Amino acid sequence: MGSVRVQLQPAGDVVRLVQLTDTHLCAKAGGTLLGVDTDASLNAVIDLVRSERPHVDAILATGDLSDQGAQSAYQRLQTAFDTLCPTQYWLPGNHDNREAMLAVAGPDALPAAVSAPHWQVIMLDSQIPGEVGGELGPEQLAQLSSLLDAAREAGQYVLVCLHHQPVPVGCAWLDEQMVADADTLFAFLDTHDSVRGVLWGHVHQHIQRERNGVELMASPSTCVQFAPDQVDFRADVIPPGYRWLDLHPDGRIETGVSRLPEGNFIADTEMGGYL
Ligand SMILES: [Fe+2]
Repeated sequence: MGSVRVQLQPAGDVVRLVQLTDTHLCAKAGGTLLGVDTDASLNAVIDLVRSERPHVDAILATGDLSDQGAQSAYQRLQTAFDTLCPTQYWLPGNHDNREAMLAVAGPDALPAAVSAPHWQVIMLDSQIPGEVGGELGPEQLAQLSSLLDAAREAGQYVLVCLHHQPVPVGCAWLDEQMVADADTLFAFLDTHDSVRGVLWGHVHQHIQRERNGVELMASPSTCVQFAPDQVDFRADVIPPGYRWLDLHPDGRIETGVSRLPEGNFIADTEMGGYL
């Protein structure tokens, strides 16, 4: 987790966010993942956002932004994101290199927290360098606790973002990689009723659940999709997409997922070995 706290001044009363996740850009433009050109699919999803969302206050990019941690991938990502919105908050995933991300985007793009008039967005780093699975660690959980207390003092609602899933999603192969200390995370979240949502990437599928009044949200990747309810890895045959989130001043989260038209950027389901 970074130590930087940044301010976000939305254009209106509602904070209008777009989550673009698991972009998996390769070192060179045109690189593919399971047969999908990840630059081309990202650019198509960005065009879709532009056609559907008249204003975006900030992009939330929740990890696996590159496929192998190449600085060149982050440079192309930033260029593509800039065409939609210059305000961007990036999180590392298991495929990322945090130092390379910082070198391209700078510390303000990898903050610990984003403060808006009625909302605090807390960005947790669940990456364990060299590992596929996720963990937050005691130091970061202590920082989370003080950020939650500060948000309560300030009367702000809270959205928590991270890369790995903090709850089982129903795919055995993915759930082995779940945040290892998720119980401690929820112990903190459960004592703060200002927490309204938890948002993650990693699972390349749409999930919308509710837990003790908190929205639990996962979202499509901008490239390859994973089929739900699988024991072993399986790609899905639905197109890429993104999630939008409108954070209202009364604490409501309005959100939805949108995808490219059927048949676009479909992964080769016969190819295995995503990991
Ligand atoms: Fe991913």
